Amino acid sequence: MNVYRSKRLKYVPIDDIEYEDFYLALMNEPGILNSDVSLPLGFTMAKVPGATKILATRKLLCMYICLPVPGGFGKPVPIGVVALSKPEEQHAQHGSSSLSIIIISTYQRKGYGKEAIAWALDWGFDFARLHRVEIACYSWNPGAKRLYSRIGFREEGVKREAVWFMGGWHDRHELAMLEDEWRGKWRDEAHAETWAPGSGQTYSSEQIAQNMGSA
Ligand SMILES: CC(C)(COP(=O)(O)OP(=O)(O)OC[C@H]1O[C@@H](n2cnc3c(N)ncnc32)[C@H](O)[C@@H]1OP(=O)(O)O)[C@@H](O)C(=O)NCCC(=O)NCCS
Repeated sequence: MNVYRSKRLKYVPIDDIEYEDFYLALMNEPGILNSDVSLPLGFTMAKVPGATKILATRKLLCMYICLPVPGGFGKPVPIGVVALSKPEEQHAQHGSSSLSIIIISTYQRKGYGKEAIAWALDWGFDFARLHRVEIACYSWNPGAKRLYSRIGFREEGVKREAVWFMGGWHDRHELAMLEDEWRGKWRDEAHAETWAPGSGQTYSSEQIAQNMGSA
């Protein structure tokens, strides 16, 4: 059992300095504006160590999404980033977090986004004891919304004219997945091949012992 693997992907912590060049390239992808709607001020190498350090400490989870090298040796190839927000200390009991994801353009539309989201949901529910995971997209990104709906996120509302972008007002669509919905139906349909067993199940101590080789 490897917590940091899914079917085709591997996950590496965001503060791994070997990936700083990739982080810079990712921050300069046009698609970053789909998820980061702060003022676009440009991003240079000087900002990378500070930004990745903030992500490593302030997010619950923030990982590079990577393709493993065949044979298992050598540096996995980074293709994106997936993150879960950290609930504030006095709100931790609600078990709620927001998921964000970006895949670099050359690796989009190959099913990696779906797989990485499924892995992050499994991680959130199975290890961090989350109860609900939210995800949002802006109205100029219907492709992302289609993907989230297909994974099983339910639309919960629209924040009308919530963002000013490229000279106009745009809506923010908010969706969420509950733990039981994921375990009961969608986890199985995602075929992400993480550590998690099939629909609706969790492991007994004995099964974990088998998986971990500690029986
Ligand atoms: C959204 C994103 C994470 C999806 O990752 P991905 O690896 O491309 O997605 P998958 O290959 O798993 O799934 C593809 C599906 O996603 C949807 N989709 C994703 N990007 C799309 C796009 N640019 N145009 C149309 N549909 C898109 C489609 O439904 C597509 O299914 P289809 O090919 O059968 O039509 C990725 O495209 C991305 O990083 N985009 C730029 C940043 C971004 O928008 N992040 C999300 C912010 S809310």
